[in-house]
Amino acid sequence: MTNSTIKKLLILTSGGDAPGMNAALRAAVRTAIYHGIEVYGSEAGYQGLIDQTVFPISSKYVANCLQRGGTILKSGRCKAFMEKTVRDECRQYLQALEIDAMVVLGGDGSFRGAWLLENEGGPKTMGIPCTIDNDILGTEYTIGFDTACNTALQAIDKIRDTAFSHNRHFLVEVMGRSAGFLAVEVGIAGGAEFVLIPEEPLSTEELVQRIRNRVRQKLASIIVVAEAEKAGRSVELAEQIKALSGITYRVCILGHTQRGGSPTVKDRKIASLMGYDAIQALLAGESQKMVSLQNEELVTVPFPDPSLGARAFTGEELLRINRIICGV
Ligand code: F6P
Repeated sequence: MTNSTIKKLLILTSGGDAPGMNAALRAAVRTAIYHGIEVYGSEAGYQGLIDQTVFPISSKYVANCLQRGGTILKSGRCKAFMEKTVRDECRQYLQALEIDAMVVLGGDGSFRGAWLLENEGGPKTMGIPCTIDNDILGTEYTIGFDTACNTALQAIDKIRDTAFSHNRHFLVEVMGRSAGFLAVEVGIAGGAEFVLIPEEPLSTEELVQRIRNRVRQKLASIIVVAEAEKAGRSVELAEQIKALSGITYRVCILGHTQRGGSPTVKDRKIASLMGYDAIQALLAGESQKMVSLQNEELVTVPFPDPSLGARAFTGEELLRINRIICGV
């Protein structure tokens, strides 16, 4: 145990949940307690601050959560926290509790809230990047991505079995509002002929052209579609493909199944180390930063600039290689 300049720490999970959040939470809580810091939790992200229901967290509180999906602290997207008057009340509440540091597990929206709060005189803040989309600028990895990929891949493998048996074509829709990392990863690993991602919009006419121009026509096939701006868009896409080509594509939308489930080895390990590093960084006097994976190493970087948007997939070459491998 060391003498800490931080006495009381608040921790919360915010935004879309991601498998591995609990592992990060557990590591951060226990590291803080190791350093003699009192730990408090806020349920459902920033909502717990608004409701003024912050509560003390013990080492036991995080026992037996390492292997669980979701977040034991619950999560939420809190629009109200973007209002200054709401944040002012939360800041005064935290000041009354003498909270001097805060760890936020979430994505760029959640980090933005933390950044604003600290700028306005609130506690020192540190972020841990969590989202199955892997699309936060400044880090090559976000907690939950590997588990979501494995969940989606298991589903694709099952669809492949039945697609083959019945000579059917499928559109499998995966999550990814702004970025196609998940779609590309499982598209390649699952043998999808085409992977449709928000970074490379393809008109239905072009897609149909590519399907017609395939080197090897297939009786059964899979196209992975990132949901992009409209969850469920594959239903309409299948109708458009049918109208233009006469080919029937069945649709399977994996949806929120991808957000749940027990985290993989990779997610548990990275989450645990990120949780540890978040506390070490705060103790070293750093703030308004997030823990980030860069070139296989954990570092801390400033919170991403929200005006720059999400991290985009830039590996078009991978998709070209995948089409060769799939014989299209
Ligand atoms: O966590 C990110 C994400 O999974 C996006 O891919 C998806 O568009 C979104 O969350 C769905 O969010 P919600 O659960 O709030 O509908």
